[in-house]
Amino acid sequence: ALISMRQMLDHAAEYGYGVPAFNVNNLEQMRAIMEAADETDSPVIVQASAGARKYAGAPFLRHLILAAVEEFPHIPVVMHQDHGTSPAVCQRSIQLGFSSVMMDGSLKEDGKTPADYAYNVDVTRRTVEMAHACGVSVEGELGCLGSLETGMAGEEDGVGAEGKLDMEQLLTDPEEAAEFVKATHVDALAIAIGTSHGAYKFTQPPTGDTLSIRRIKEIHARIPETHLVMHGSSSVPQEWLAIINEFGGAIPETYGVPVEEIVEGIKHGVRKVNVDTDLRLASTGAVRRFLAENPAEFDPRKFLKASTAAMKAICKARYEAFGTAGNA
Ligand code: G3H
Ligand code: 13P
Ligand code: NA
Ligand code: ZN
Repeated sequence: ALISMRQMLDHAAEYGYGVPAFNVNNLEQMRAIMEAADETDSPVIVQASAGARKYAGAPFLRHLILAAVEEFPHIPVVMHQDHGTSPAVCQRSIQLGFSSVMMDGSLKEDGKTPADYAYNVDVTRRTVEMAHACGVSVEGELGCLGSLETGMAGEEDGVGAEGKLDMEQLLTDPEEAAEFVKATHVDALAIAIGTSHGAYKFTQPPTGDTLSIRRIKEIHARIPETHLVMHGSSSVPQEWLAIINEFGGAIPETYGVPVEEIVEGIKHGVRKVNVDTDLRLASTGAVRRFLAENPAEFDPRKFLKASTAAMKAICKARYEAFGTAGNA
């Protein structure tokens, strides 16, 4: 059944687990997420980005998610809009039937320019008023995703600030977070702790200086009732990088957020963990390997089946590690 994010995260907080929020763009991702959830008895958050809406079209995405609810009626599903850039964008998703929206007011409407606090409070508060009137949950974001080493948001064509960010923006301030939650009444708060979107998060395995789990603890201590959200939480599996590169790819050395660090975050208030890149890497690796090993095959269902299986394995591993499994 389709449920609101607030309902799901309240349960997660009560029982001390986290829920991965996987981005969805196509049938194969949707099947991978649902089959993994079915086999591990996990609740599901699927999220559609602006890029996904551009790729598949909002009606296709919507029906893909509704089809998942129909085929797996025993699994609670949140249909979430990822990184909305304005209250109007969120309103359109609410009208389409999304049960949760993210109003990302950490950036201006262009999705690139860091916004000031007053702007963020204004657009987020307005979105919460509208969404709550419709029984829809809202995720806000305070602080800007980006590397603590370079100050850069990382991803070029995706969601992220343009230009260099300063320390103040890169680490969410606990006091300001408390004020923000009080002023906006968001159901969940995305925070900045040194992660960024995409595959190029860290040039070497992260340490306490580049990935601040400590900041999560400080924020959680200040606002223990608020559900925290980690963006840019792909782990960038070294095994999949090796497979991609073995079969014709060219991805330079890079590191993601270790699963055990996310698990530590979940012990301190993190309830929603956004993962997109890991499924992209697994899918690409599986397709490259399949086509290299089966050069005579031309039925897309064959290589897409390999893609689905690879993504499903990642989903299962995250449901198990985050404690989501067994909570559907
Ligand atoms: O927020 C970032 C997600 O990874 C979505 O990326 O805009 O390329 O779909 P996308
Ligand atoms: P990754 O790029 O680390 O998968 O993050 C996805 C995300 O935060 C989507 O909002
Ligand atoms: Na989101
Ligand atoms: Zn994000």
